[in-house]
Amino acid sequence: MLHQDATLRASARAESAPSSASAHGPVADLKRTVEAGLVGRTPLVERLIVALLAGGHLLVEGPPGLAKTRAVKRLSGGLECSFSRIQCTPDLMPADLTGTQVFRPERGLFEFVEGPVFHSLVLVDEINRAPPKVQSALLEAMAEAQVTAGGVTYKLPDPFMVIATQNSIEHEGTFPLPEAQLDRFLMHVLVAMPDAASELAILDLVEREASGTVAAPGHPLRAADLLEARRQAARVHLSPALKDYIVRLVMATRDASVAPDVAGAIEHAVSPRGTLALAASSKAKAFLAGRDYVLPEDVADLAPDILSHRIVPTWRAAAEGVTARALVARLLDLVRPL
Ligand SMILES: Nc1ncnc2c1ncn2[C@@H]1O[C@H](COP(=O)(O)OP(=O)(O)O)[C@@H](O)[C@H]1O
Ligand SMILES: [Mg+2]
Repeated sequence: MLHQDATLRASARAESAPSSASAHGPVADLKRTVEAGLVGRTPLVERLIVALLAGGHLLVEGPPGLAKTRAVKRLSGGLECSFSRIQCTPDLMPADLTGTQVFRPERGLFEFVEGPVFHSLVLVDEINRAPPKVQSALLEAMAEAQVTAGGVTYKLPDPFMVIATQNSIEHEGTFPLPEAQLDRFLMHVLVAMPDAASELAILDLVEREASGTVAAPGHPLRAADLLEARRQAARVHLSPALKDYIVRLVMATRDASVAPDVAGAIEHAVSPRGTLALAASSKAKAFLAGRDYVLPEDVADLAPDILSHRIVPTWRAAAEGVTARALVARLLDLVRPL
């Protein structure tokens, strides 16, 4: 179980800088707005907002019909920023996403017409149905926050966040995302089927929505508030003990001295990008919870969604059915905060 040491909590708090907490309210409102339209999807909503605060992109995977698209639409409804949705198909071309040079005869020159990626919040639905060239154009745009066309570089908006959904049951006619580039996503979130009680609650919610008896959402979060919230989240205190915890988790994916069975089952281990992602996301999660210091459980809760897609198991481990997620679960058992 998680380390609940009172002294650790005290030390995490003692060194923390006082925060004005002014941007927390609007962000907590956003969380409530998104959650109000979804049944039992708190972890997904939390991760959407953590990624938004940490300035990262999200990959959401699960079978169809689990409100993945709905969650992202609710998020865009709660944000005062531009939104676009790209439905991926096997015949999509990179320019359909990034934009095209269009000839303007009246001026006798080519002009760049921005594609749907030029928005602050971009929903890329069923990314694994897009061909590799499109995936690579998108991953590049995500990593660089810019698009190059015709030798000219165009900056993407700030904030810029991609939320890609991936259907986990469809295999025919799909293109798996390149494993080596999956770490462009801050997090990889899995959504599972709801239980009977949640199904009933979904029925009720849809009925209430159809009859117009749900409360209208409040004010959308302004872009300026989001940027301020990002600054405040980045200033959340991460104690030396927790930095050490994060580093030991990451090192254990490379170094066999901690957990020989885990490191031995890993072909590609977590890079420093994973270390930074876990630190930034833990701070964002703490900020969302209204704290100005990170707790060990922030790190442990996010670690599976931040580390798993950055690990490639060996061929042998994969053949034995060992998943990256199972390896991270084992690491969390073996590596404890000090
Ligand atoms: N947890 C949930 N909460 C609220 N509605 C849900 C939930 N799960 C499924 N639904 C309903 O199912 C529909 C399908 O959702 P959608 O977002 O299109 O799914 P996905 O993108 O995962 O395929 C939604 O419009 C919604 O009415
Ligand atoms: Mg969908």
